[in-house]
Amino acid sequence: MSRLVVVSNRLPALGKGVAAGGLAVALEAALGEKGGLWLGWSGKTTELPGAPRLQDEGRVTYAALDLTPADISGYYEGISNSVLWPLCHYRADLLEYTRADMDRYMTVNGKFADALLPLLRPDDLVWVHDYHLIPLAAALRERGVTNRIGYFHHIPWPAYDLFRALPRARSFLSSILAYDVVGLQTPADARNLKDALGAMRSDLEAMTKPRGTRIGAYPISIDTEAFASRASRARDLPRIKELHQRFGPRDLVIGVDRLDYSKGLPERLRAIEQLLETHAGLHNRVSFLQITPASRSGIEGYDRIQQEVAERAGRLNASYGTLDWLPVRYINRAFSQSLLAGLYRLSRVGLVTPLRDGMNLVAKEFVAAQDPADPGVLVLSQFAGAAAEMTSALIVNPHDVEDVSNALARALTMSIEERRERHWAMMRRLETYPVSVWAKTFVNDLEPAARRKKIIP
Ligand code: G6P
Repeated sequence: MSRLVVVSNRLPALGKGVAAGGLAVALEAALGEKGGLWLGWSGKTTELPGAPRLQDEGRVTYAALDLTPADISGYYEGISNSVLWPLCHYRADLLEYTRADMDRYMTVNGKFADALLPLLRPDDLVWVHDYHLIPLAAALRERGVTNRIGYFHHIPWPAYDLFRALPRARSFLSSILAYDVVGLQTPADARNLKDALGAMRSDLEAMTKPRGTRIGAYPISIDTEAFASRASRARDLPRIKELHQRFGPRDLVIGVDRLDYSKGLPERLRAIEQLLETHAGLHNRVSFLQITPASRSGIEGYDRIQQEVAERAGRLNASYGTLDWLPVRYINRAFSQSLLAGLYRLSRVGLVTPLRDGMNLVAKEFVAAQDPADPGVLVLSQFAGAAAEMTSALIVNPHDVEDVSNALARALTMSIEERRERHWAMMRRLETYPVSVWAKTFVNDLEPAARRKKIIP
């Protein structure tokens, strides 16, 4: 059986924001089964990085690569998070591009390729993750690597007209064609990528030799069974018991998001304000818990959203709070998976309203954490990849404050029969399509036997 080699910007144990991000949770399941190697940035910077440090844990070897401060500035903060992230989340207005950053992004992809080369065995399957490392396969091919290499894009792929805003878009697309399999979260994302390849086809044919790249939707998922049992066990955690008492007879509405402008947090707070304005009967009867670990600070869009959300939450509490009740608890820190699972289970409503999101695993975790006999309701943005699968959620347009506020009111008064029915339908999907199936499906398609003729569309 060939070994699996995963490459991603962050390594799991060293990553920050992992509890909210979900990437690490998903991949450890895949590697645990096949055994293999995981290469990523160590999280450290140094002026003279050496070879990656290796550490064995169970069947997985972790290889931690240091980068220089200039690498992080151009590759991570620059192209990854000030160009590709905003572009893929339809925020071209936030794009901050420089040619020097792009050169650095390419150099760092070359560094990942150099670090991997001596560790690679001839029949390894290489699985690259996310937008930080799009040109990695091309860099490996330049170094003579002929292994099967796959890429999974965890975030949305934008419509062609937006993608065109990316300087050097053609060379990006041509580097995508160095992969054997390219996975996206939804059929719509896959269509967008195929549109771009189709539109730039003649240029690409001149730039690259087609290798039959297979492009498809592989919606990521969660370890449904493990998460459900974690939530049910969490009932006995002293902290959860205490919180249960504290929230008492009030209905809890929960939101859990990395602090990011793509998550629609100001819009969400406006919807809550609208609900309180139009439903005086809910005052003192509902509490909103918004857990938002800070992320990517130092990048302009992030610093701005941090301030805006904190101010809005403060204003809302000042307007509606009483001596006994604060409508919103807004918390900027990460919690353990068990505590989150317990909090989801305590909640009557899960509020997941991003303006754009590749998948959003919080939506899936919230559903898996519910007590099937008395489940909570998921209110979900139509712009989260999860909306394509979690069709029994209350689907909303996060830009329409009244739509979200009405959905909240409906969720808070929904009959137990309807709640059970909706929950059952979503659970069925999560049980038949957990993260292990996601990983197996992708890896099967990456196996040499799955080689198919599927060239640029
Ligand atoms: C998203 C991305 C991941 C990333 C995570 C945390 O989920 O898809 O690739 O690791 O956010 O972001 P950070 O910038 O802290 O790694």
